[in-house]
Amino acid sequence: MANKEKLLKMLNDALAQEHACQIRYLTHAAVITGPYAEAVANRLKEIAEDEKNHAIQLRDRITALGGTPTMEIAKGDLIPAETLNEILLVNLKEEEKAIRLYRSILRAVGREGEILYETVEDIIKDEQEHKEELDRLKE
Ligand SMILES: [Fe+2]
Ligand SMILES: [Fe+2]
Repeated sequence: MANKEKLLKMLNDALAQEHACQIRYLTHAAVITGPYAEAVANRLKEIAEDEKNHAIQLRDRITALGGTPTMEIAKGDLIPAETLNEILLVNLKEEEKAIRLYRSILRAVGREGEILYETVEDIIKDEQEHKEELDRLKE
């Protein structure tokens, strides 16, 4: 396992990112208009709920490692969008970014950090599902 301080920093970066993801999805769900607005908004709210749960899991893993979970929000991930296509493009990019960060955490954890490793693997699976779904909604 990588140096604990470095790992905690990465986990807190991921947590700040999850905070932003939840806000971003909920905001996009609130502002979307157009023929499919309601259906898409409902799905965006469900994704926001997944992001909230990722944050909960990360906080538990951070305290288990002896760290303090951040309350910061990754401001760079708060990207406004209004139309369906803008919303899909923004979130596809953001999901890819999240997956990259989580993969780098997996590499830093290594197999000996079993619970943490599995938690991050589960989160990656969710982010990949989000990505697939957003991709399917694209015109
Ligand atoms: Fe997430
Ligand atoms: Fe996601």
